[in-house]
Amino acid sequence: MEYIVINGQNPLNGNVNISGAKNAAVAILPASIASGGVCEIDNLPQIEDVMSMISAMQSMGIICDFKDEHTLVVDARNITSHVLDEKLAKNMRASYYFMGALLGRYKQAEVPLPGGCDLGSRPIDYHLKGFAALGATCIQEHGVVKLYAEKLKGANIYLDCPSVGATINIMMAAVFAEGITLIENAAKEPHIVDTANFLNKLGAKIGGAGTATIRITGVPSLGGGEYTVLPDPIEAGTYMIAAAITGGDVTVENIIPKHMDSVTSKLKEMGCLVTEGDDWITVRGAKDLRSCEVKTAFYPGFPTDLQPQMATLLCKAQGTSTITENVFEQRFRYIGEIKRLGAQIKVEGRMAVTKGSCVFTGAEVSATDLRAGAALVIAGLCARGETVIGNVGHLDRGYERFEEKFRSLGADIKRIKRDD
Ligand code: UD1
Repeated sequence: MEYIVINGQNPLNGNVNISGAKNAAVAILPASIASGGVCEIDNLPQIEDVMSMISAMQSMGIICDFKDEHTLVVDARNITSHVLDEKLAKNMRASYYFMGALLGRYKQAEVPLPGGCDLGSRPIDYHLKGFAALGATCIQEHGVVKLYAEKLKGANIYLDCPSVGATINIMMAAVFAEGITLIENAAKEPHIVDTANFLNKLGAKIGGAGTATIRITGVPSLGGGEYTVLPDPIEAGTYMIAAAITGGDVTVENIIPKHMDSVTSKLKEMGCLVTEGDDWITVRGAKDLRSCEVKTAFYPGFPTDLQPQMATLLCKAQGTSTITENVFEQRFRYIGEIKRLGAQIKVEGRMAVTKGSCVFTGAEVSATDLRAGAALVIAGLCARGETVIGNVGHLDRGYERFEEKFRSLGADIKRIKRDD
């Protein structure tokens, strides 16, 4: 078994380059199924979720060749199967994108229900309702979603809540639907815009991505093209929070500062000095962090994927802070582990309340999911003594060269193998 071992209390200092966005990459890769040519996708992060996505694509006869470490050439013209294997689907949440991608291009798909982080119930009913509105028949049996259609026809689709996955999935299916599809109450996250930009580069007609109404005019076919994945706002936010908690001075580079507004604003409210340029943000930690209230929300609100990291930072602030989780009903499962490191935090329904001025002390803990793992690392970085984190496979799913990047900022962090 592999563990991450941290000896805490080194302030982080220096510059860190942010990788391509996980959630954009895992949408753009299956979206390339729509292409009628060869696609070259650049700035792909080297993370397990991307590798799982590539394995799943290869299992369907899609040719995927790395041109260099971060550039993949994809040729989906000779796809051999519309069925995704259950084991491959269970490796990641984003396997649901094969539904929209295959249905759109081939009018048929068989995709097992997805895996991914356990954040409570994560239904895909909006995805299926959207496909049905476009004219597909959806059957769910033995944990597999089967979709087929003679043809797809544009429709007006209203989402009960702005689901990221449903917005992208319906958008992919609608690219080839006859006429116009409107997705109302669509999600506005940066990776929605990135996926739409990628499809448009291939010849799709998608307007309004990044707003609540997305308008897709069906086209008969798409070509190939080159595309660069946007930088990862969640990875950037993780390093910004790590800088703040260690009282360090860190510049996150190769980012889009606008995507970080909700995080920047909270760090400033807590007393950190935050400055930004065209493609970078510097966070300088404050000696005494002020308490604050944080509420997760759909973009441009504070991202749920930074909630565990932010909750950890709030534990250090002076006085009581609150963080309310409005996206996933059970995203506080990591709290027990963070308490083992000394956090004084209690959960009341959808809100976690921190007592403040916490002195973290090293202990052995286990990552319960990807972002919870990042929160434990952040706590370990400012803890007294040694923190040992198990279940680190979660971190490999979403962070490229995690320990290496932290080490370059001065952290005492390493990975060990241990016989258990
Ligand atoms: C995506 C991200 C994940 C992020 C989340 C919210 C990927 C691969 N994952 O997950 O990292 O935490 O967005 O920003 O991009 N819902 C339904 N029915 C549906 C779909 C969603 O009820 O059919 C609900 C969910 O239970 C949840 C909310 O809508 O409460 C938002 O979920 P959604 O935006 O779909 O998240 P994911 O696509 O699973």
